[in-house]
Amino acid sequence: MASIEVRHAEEKDLLAITKLWQRNIKTINTATDIANLYRYFGRYFLIAVDTERGEAVGFVAGAVRDGHGHISGIAVEREYRRRGIGSALITNLYDVLRKDGFKRITLEVRKSNSNAIRFYERQGFKPCTVINGYYADGEDAIVYEKDI
Ligand SMILES: CC(C)(COP(=O)(O)OP(=O)(O)OC[C@H]1O[C@@H](n2cnc3c(N)ncnc32)[C@H](O)[C@@H]1OP(=O)(O)O)[C@@H](O)C(=O)NCCC(=O)NCCS
Repeated sequence: MASIEVRHAEEKDLLAITKLWQRNIKTINTATDIANLYRYFGRYFLIAVDTERGEAVGFVAGAVRDGHGHISGIAVEREYRRRGIGSALITNLYDVLRKDGFKRITLEVRKSNSNAIRFYERQGFKPCTVINGYYADGEDAIVYEKDI
């Protein structure tokens, strides 16, 4: 099985992150949006690399919003899913956020994204509100939160 390393993202990883983001997440985020998020919150961008292929196969884009940690995006390439890579990315992000003094993390997820919802609930996230019509196509978002 491939060996996977989770590390902080660097500027040179932005193209790979953008491709992963746009291929795996139903999104309207452009490369510029993602680059801007990286400019502000690059410290909270982590990637998972298949060290044999030398390729990024997953990422988490963390951020700070309203004084707490936030997940702007997380994805693992389809053929690498269900091997604990998403969990490794998110738990490494908790560590970075905790080091910076944050105690809570939030995210929004599409109501229809049942795989991601199962993943987040397995991580211990709890639903707190619904934002009607949050996404550009009109779908509602469920806001989840977790103490870290
Ligand atoms: C959500 C996502 C990042 C999870 O990544 P992953 O590497 O597959 O997650 P893990 O292997 O760490 O999963 C941990 C646990 O979460 C749950 N889980 C993850 N994916 C699941 C699925 N498709 N169905 C049911 N449970 C799931 C399981 O309990 C799993 O443990 P198990 O495999 O031992 O049963 C991945 O499915 C993905 O990239 N989805 C597309 C992008 C997306 O929707 N992102 C979220 C919105 S921003």
